[in-house]
Amino acid sequence: MKYPDNADLIVAYSKNRVIGRDGLIPWNIEGEKKRFKELTTGNIVVMGRRTYEEIGRPLPNRLNIVLSNTKNFSGGNLITMKNLNEVFERFKDDSRRIYIAGGERLYREALNFVKNMYITLIDAYIEGDAYFPEFDQELFDVSCEKSVDGDIPYRYMTYTRI
Ligand SMILES: NC(=O)c1ccc[n+]([C@@H]2O[C@H](COP(=O)([O-])OP(=O)(O)OC[C@H]3O[C@@H](n4cnc5c(N)ncnc54)[C@H](OP(=O)(O)O)[C@@H]3O)[C@@H](O)[C@H]2O)c1
Repeated sequence: MKYPDNADLIVAYSKNRVIGRDGLIPWNIEGEKKRFKELTTGNIVVMGRRTYEEIGRPLPNRLNIVLSNTKNFSGGNLITMKNLNEVFERFKDDSRRIYIAGGERLYREALNFVKNMYITLIDAYIEGDAYFPEFDQELFDVSCEKSVDGDIPYRYMTYTRI
């Protein structure tokens, strides 16, 4: 696959790398999704079929691409594609950024080529059944954009491939 220059990854995971439980995100922290909205609005979000079904509707003001080989969702700002290859063939020269937004399998693939990873580190151990894969931190420059205190503190991190 020829990887595009305009692909990034966006995720929130806990200290034990959990991203989900029973199809849901197992925390609800006021304001925590703000960066997701800011970055993805006006751009392209790619997500797995289960993640999309859980959200239940296309996110407004951005193109939503669902990856599925079993179902077909479509609408004004919603399309379904079969794999990342197909997405990149069609959008590699697009001026918008492509944000890979989970779940686990998509993250595992995307880790190998995305330029930036916008990672929200949730500062707690949380039970779950879907995880963000281990990766080689040495391959990235890391910066912390913001730390937020609260019942469950979190940090907005940016990893940029060196
Ligand atoms: N914390 C976070 O930032 C975050 C972000 C996203 C999701 N989540 C959580 O993660 C969980 C869902 O993740 P999941 O890993 O179970 O499911 P998922 O990736 O959302 O959906 C899996 C389905 O998506 C399709 N798919 C996924 N990767 C594909 C690929 N590379 N190529 C083609 N098709 C692909 C397949 O659909 P078909 O079976 O239809 O072919 C697959 O069965 C939920 O708990 C959700 O809340 C958390």
